[in-house]
Amino acid sequence: MAKILINDGIHPTGLKMLQDAGHDVNTTKIDQENLASELPAYHAICVRSATKVREDLIKVCPNLKVIGRGGVGLDNIDVTYARDNGVAVINTPAASSRSVAELVFSHAFSVSRSLYKANREMPSGGDSQFKALKKSYSAGVELKGKTIGIIGLGRIGCEVAKIALGIGMKVIGSDISGKNIEVDLEIAGISLSYTIENISMDELLAQSDYISLHVPSLDKPVLGADEFAKMKDGAVLLNASRGGTVDEDAMMTALQSGKLASAGIDVFVGEPSPRKDILNIPNISVTPHIGASTGEAQENIGIELANQLIDLLG
Ligand SMILES: NC(=O)c1ccc[n+]([C@@H]2O[C@H](COP(=O)([O-])OP(=O)(O)OC[C@H]3O[C@@H](n4cnc5c(N)ncnc54)[C@H](O)[C@@H]3O)[C@@H](O)[C@H]2O)c1
Repeated sequence: MAKILINDGIHPTGLKMLQDAGHDVNTTKIDQENLASELPAYHAICVRSATKVREDLIKVCPNLKVIGRGGVGLDNIDVTYARDNGVAVINTPAASSRSVAELVFSHAFSVSRSLYKANREMPSGGDSQFKALKKSYSAGVELKGKTIGIIGLGRIGCEVAKIALGIGMKVIGSDISGKNIEVDLEIAGISLSYTIENISMDELLAQSDYISLHVPSLDKPVLGADEFAKMKDGAVLLNASRGGTVDEDAMMTALQSGKLASAGIDVFVGEPSPRKDILNIPNISVTPHIGASTGEAQENIGIELANQLIDLLG
């Protein structure tokens, strides 16, 4: 039996798995300043992004065997120090892929039919007002038959590809790996396999009606002024990867000029305080980094963490 501290919460399914495996699990949050005195009694700690597990804390916890991160980013953990000192560091990178991909399509559908605006402008009464509004939304666009260019064909990029194929889009992709990627999907019980040809970024930008970014955090933006210039006029940008993967000045210019018809954005430079002009421009649908915010993703995260902890701790 190991003592496990769950400091930033876990889905009840994951908690039950750990308890059923016989572990002593504490889910009561210990404040950051008290961790150095209390964590030494534990064999494992699980965190999200709130709790920091830095070198000075790891140093005073000789019993610590595992640091678990529910989610992907490990910025709040001194990973190298932990691993160099025999402490395993685990995370759950695949648990939220489907949820993030579905959010991408929430934005894609929303901007294609101006739902984000129509929701707020729905008139409370008056035939002429209703008809005028209906007319102003007559330029909606179907996704079926359009081409989506996916930049970054990893876990989430592949989930986006599956949904896109399911709704009849043409899927193209570009990934620095240079490899073609095969995705398996099931539609109405029928299993299908589809190969996404890995084309150059320039080809992707020139051919895509919708462009969806699924790259990791990088030193410089993948999409800047040069890349926007190479896109089709009236393209739609979707970004649920990381703030900084798109040059926001260049994106704003493209939205203002009509080069981009619209954008659906879940991630921003300077989170949690995105720049005001992005929030206020009309042809954009924005969300506060909620890609993984579904019950299913949270349950998957709990299950994936619990499975790994049980493997490592017995
Ligand atoms: N919005 C959210 O809530 C949310 C949730 C989870 C993950 N994410 C983010 O989504 C992104 C993708 O996650 P993932 O799990 O699919 O990652 P992944 O590692 O599975 O895939 C990333 C892919 O990008 C490719 N790549 C890297 N640099 C590239 C470049 N310059 N050009 C083209 N391709 C490049 C890699 O080869 C890889 O195939 C990450 O930034 C992750 O942090 C966002």
